[in-house]
Amino acid sequence: MQKILVTGGLGFIGSHTVVELQESGYEVVIIDNLSNSQIFVLDRIAEITGKKPEFHQIDLRNKEDVQQFFKSQKIDGVIHFAASKAVGESVKEPLKYYENNISTLVYVLKEMTENNVNHFIFSSSCTVYGQADELPITEKAPMKIAESPYGNTKQIGEEVLKETTSVSDLNGIALRYFNPIGAHSSAKIGELPIGVPQNLIPYITQTAIGIREELSVFGDDYDTEDGTAIRDYIHVVDLAKAHIKALERLIKSSNKEKFEVFNIGTGTGNSVLEIVKAFEKVTNQKLAYKIVERRAGDITAAFADTTLAEKELGWKADLSLEDCLLSAWNWEKAIRK
Ligand code: UD1
Repeated sequence: MQKILVTGGLGFIGSHTVVELQESGYEVVIIDNLSNSQIFVLDRIAEITGKKPEFHQIDLRNKEDVQQFFKSQKIDGVIHFAASKAVGESVKEPLKYYENNISTLVYVLKEMTENNVNHFIFSSSCTVYGQADELPITEKAPMKIAESPYGNTKQIGEEVLKETTSVSDLNGIALRYFNPIGAHSSAKIGELPIGVPQNLIPYITQTAIGIREELSVFGDDYDTEDGTAIRDYIHVVDLAKAHIKALERLIKSSNKEKFEVFNIGTGTGNSVLEIVKAFEKVTNQKLAYKIVERRAGDITAAFADTTLAEKELGWKADLSLEDCLLSAWNWEKAIRK
């Protein structure tokens, strides 16, 4: 049985990926510092899969702890989610982002190369493209100057990984996620935003359940059909499955380059108002919203060309927007009980 380290394995995408790994027959060890996750998620994973993964509460900024961990373990591959992800916060506290997202990556890669652990999957983001000149966005689209330290850490992270693979036995895949939403169909795990949600879907579900008064739609004067901004919303379970495909590719040595990049999205863009309408339909209730000013740093439209992931990883998003919104709603209701 292959043993996979999942850093940030109790977070939103991490926890769903741990479930898929266990259900695909991998043994999982999680590292998480619980800075943006909850320990009860470990039991929830066990309830879903019938197996509690090994867990270590380690902060990857502590280099010695990372060294110690790799010395004491026999690991076959690493999926690295542990990172900070709030765009606004990154502008105010850039060093926190460079330390949490870059230093930790360096420490993990260093231990991997020294301990001969050669498969690495990196959480990247479509944010590396900025406002792309052409839609849908292919992996060949150039990176734009990052709008935030957070975005910059994803660009630098990819470079750090690429350069490391070029001088070592390490093979790496960066998955550029579009907008991950939804929750596990069991409603036992999902997104747990701290404080006021910054992202669209948790804001919508919290409004629908009565925690927030109304949704602010950021701008209706974009150059799109209804004037609101367009994104590619992908179900977190589909996204989790893409990690299994990427890992298998490395384990089977089917990768064509030592470092590869894949877009992970659905290929379809939806506007904010389309999301609101779809949510109303799926949940059969009205959602209170108002149009406000654009949010600084937001782009007009982004959606993926997923041809490469389909061809090379044999992966394609399977779940619909309705599945996404209904599962997010069921999760919101489950955590408020
Ligand atoms: C954001 C980050 C992105 C990150 C991703 C991870 C920014 C600029 N980008 O993507 O780097 O990888 O989250 O989750 O923050 N919206 C509203 N009202 C709200 C919230 C959002 O109208 O209360 C709109 C936004 O203007 C946007 C869309 O909904 O058009 C999606 O927003 P969001 O969920 O925050 O994701 P992104 O901004 O696309």
